Amino acid sequence: MKFRFALAIAASAILAAAGTAVAQQPIIIKFSHVVAVDTPKGKAAEYFKKLAEERTKGRVKIEVYPNSQLFKDGEEMEAVQLGSVQMLAPSLAKFGPLGVREFEVFDLPYIFDDYNQLHTVTSGPVGQGLFKKIESKGLVGLAYWDNGFKVMSANKPIRVPTDYKGLKMRVQSSKVLADQMKALGSIPQSMAFSEVYQALQTGVVDGTENPPSNFSTQKMQEVQKYLALTNHGYLGYAVIVNKKFWDGLPADIRTTLEGAMKDATKYANDIAQKDNDDAIEVVRKSGKTEIITLTPDQKAAMKKALVAVHKENESRIGKDTLAEVYKETGFKP
Ligand code: LMR
Repeated sequence: MKFRFALAIAASAILAAAGTAVAQQPIIIKFSHVVAVDTPKGKAAEYFKKLAEERTKGRVKIEVYPNSQLFKDGEEMEAVQLGSVQMLAPSLAKFGPLGVREFEVFDLPYIFDDYNQLHTVTSGPVGQGLFKKIESKGLVGLAYWDNGFKVMSANKPIRVPTDYKGLKMRVQSSKVLADQMKALGSIPQSMAFSEVYQALQTGVVDGTENPPSNFSTQKMQEVQKYLALTNHGYLGYAVIVNKKFWDGLPADIRTTLEGAMKDATKYANDIAQKDNDDAIEVVRKSGKTEIITLTPDQKAAMKKALVAVHKENESRIGKDTLAEVYKETGFKP
């Protein structure tokens, strides 16, 4: 009798231990992205990981996969919709293929003069409205993270629109960006970020555009002789999660993660400008790429050639979205 009683006690103790062990399995969030760690997005993703794991006291584990390790462009959107990963921070230029073309308003050349104008739009009805729109795609938008203003690069000096004539220029999967390159007389080639370095090295493309932080961390100075400080457009990100996963989280965990995301967003947007300024110095010091500063006339010629893209894409982006952004930025097409 005593033996049976002891056996029952032991069995329930083992079961209890097993139960607790299962209960204590951390919630895993796979966070996949396509850029290097030493970039505004790469650093912000690591910072979010640190805050989220600390504040949930280990109940959540963030696995960050940079450099397209897990999924590259063209794959990662489907992966997050299927739940193969839980979190992404794609460029705003990559939401068109998802069917939310309004995001391409952010790609329009010269539409933002500075980060403040951009933040007015992302935190305002347009930015929040876009997050509403992606819910029907099974996604939740958590935040907008900055990178910066793009520069153009090639293996010949590029100062005015005619210098771009006939060049094959890599772009992200955005019709607005393809039209932008066509407006310069060059040939747009859309491809995944992870393929750009090799495409430049082998001559599949002649040039590209990106914020300096992406240019230098991908070592494009090794395969591009000229970089023009055009600041002709903005590149930033939307941090998104799988909706079913996010809605299914325990409420306290979700609240804690929202707080961590808020602080990581402030961090991302605080470091972006300096990261890009530092990147230009890295390129300059490499001595491999000549940095071109445009004269006011050259900048005016670029702007004149590129603003035509706004009208061309008015119906694609949506008249209301465009009008609202023009109102908030004061942009005069
Ligand atoms: C690109 O494809 O050029 C960028 O969107 C990469 C990134 O995420 O910054």
